[in-house]
Amino acid sequence: MSKYDNSFTDELRQRLSLVDVISRRVPLTKKGQNYWGCCPFHNEKTPSFAVNEDKGFYHCFGCGEHGDIISFVMKSENLEFKEAIKELADMAGLKMPEFKQKSAEQIAAEENYVKITERATQIYQDLLYKDAGKHALEYIKNRGFNDEMIKKYRIGYAPKNNIISSTFNNINRDKLTATGLVRIGDYGPYDFFRDKLMFPIFNAHGQIVAFSGRSLDGSEPKYINTSDTELFHKRQTIFGFNFARESIHRNNRSIVVEGQIDAIQMQVHGFGETVAPLGTSLTEDHIAILCKSNRNITFCFDGDNAGQKAAVRACTLVLPFLRDNSDVKFAFVSGGKDPDEILKKYGADAMKKIIDNATPLIDFLWEFANKNFLINTPGGRAQAEKYLKDCTSKITDKIFQNEIESEYNNRKFNKWHKWKQQKYTPTIEIPDVDIMTINVIKSIVQTYPELAEKYMDFLVSLNISFDENVQKTDLSIDDANKFIVSFKLQRYLKSLQDEKLKLLSNIPENAGDKYRNKLKEIDENIIKANEKLELLLDINK
Ligand code: UTP
Ligand code: MN
Repeated sequence: MSKYDNSFTDELRQRLSLVDVISRRVPLTKKGQNYWGCCPFHNEKTPSFAVNEDKGFYHCFGCGEHGDIISFVMKSENLEFKEAIKELADMAGLKMPEFKQKSAEQIAAEENYVKITERATQIYQDLLYKDAGKHALEYIKNRGFNDEMIKKYRIGYAPKNNIISSTFNNINRDKLTATGLVRIGDYGPYDFFRDKLMFPIFNAHGQIVAFSGRSLDGSEPKYINTSDTELFHKRQTIFGFNFARESIHRNNRSIVVEGQIDAIQMQVHGFGETVAPLGTSLTEDHIAILCKSNRNITFCFDGDNAGQKAAVRACTLVLPFLRDNSDVKFAFVSGGKDPDEILKKYGADAMKKIIDNATPLIDFLWEFANKNFLINTPGGRAQAEKYLKDCTSKITDKIFQNEIESEYNNRKFNKWHKWKQQKYTPTIEIPDVDIMTINVIKSIVQTYPELAEKYMDFLVSLNISFDENVQKTDLSIDDANKFIVSFKLQRYLKSLQDEKLKLLSNIPENAGDKYRNKLKEIDENIIKANEKLELLLDINK
């Protein structure tokens, strides 16, 4: 987008009718505010592809495709942004604005950069097999890397001395520091990576744009990575993507793990579609890159607390990308620290089991809400509900969003509001209830779940077991309702009387206004409760 003034794309949008442009490919008919047709992006016989001329976007309720006039031309004709703009400009009879080419200096700078990192990689690769890199080679072999893997991922060793700054001492300093490999200190240039096991970081085209260096002597931090440069943006780079790309297409999903060694081990153990974020937690950009291929992602996080946190974060990020045909799942490593360890200890089959047993996002969120809030209290349930609502509101596909919400509503009713699953310890002592009344209440609860739900807190406070099956009640729902209400009132009355008795048996020596007011308040409440009860029992007759 940045290559063009936004004003030109705005002008295109203004000049051209979205309906006209789409109609050239898809017959549309107007229904209500929108135009409808069969979606050109997936196979369908009944139209679920809606075009809104006023707002300038299209949306397919079947497959979730969504976009504007430019993305329509790009997607339907498989064009690059620039080509799509050209075509639309032709249609609108507008002249293409100057294409802001990269300057010659910029191109030269990028060439330089890639040349330096490429050469540096070779130097590191060579050193891994020299004396200086002996301990590094031993370390990586111990971690289950053979020569073939070392070659494929171009793993190397950065020595203790300033090899890069001295090898490239005839190159302009700025060019060298631009790669992040060399920094300038008080005593001149020095190498950023020293005594590190070096993992090159490739861009999507397979060029090396940065490195991740692992410490070999147990010093912290465990990994250091190239800081952001012109050609390397951590937030937008996924480790292993260049190798995984084809598998992501072929297997129609991607797997995201936490660490780069995990990603490599996964790839060589038959999970070619595995990638890892780099030295940062996952970002929206990472998800967007993966979602360009497909929206099926299995996140595989470490089984620790950090892994749980990472999963929650991934969830939040992925929700806006979710469609009704996406398959997003969360797997957690157990029986080992991370995928690398599982593969080493138990092999690829064990890992496959973990991946196959991954929890779908919808269930993961539900479980998370249930684990993290006190769902046996009304306040906790409210918090959990708010959390889930907040999550589902991030789903942009409205129909899908509704579907998920009603799924959660079902679960809430079945799992939260079922009185029999409540574990409640009453805080105030409640007098015993006679067995006859209890049996009526039990049968009401089993006959009318809606009443159970309505008076749940009260029923739970009775602290009696609703588990066993009892006969259904003959009472109508109205009478059953009244039965519960009058019972509730009687209990309330009794508690007021008890309170009054307690006060009277314990009159303080200098009983003042406060004491008399309290007594008065109780008396008033007793009168009110009595009136209500009489009214209720009267109508009952
Ligand atoms: P982990 O601490 O899980 O490390 O960090 P790991 O991948 O298991 O590392 P090994 O197996 O001990 O070699 C996960 C990822 O977080 C980044 C790295 O990308 C690492 O792969 N990280 C971790 C850093 O960038 N810096 C650190 O100091 C630690
Ligand atoms: Mn590890």
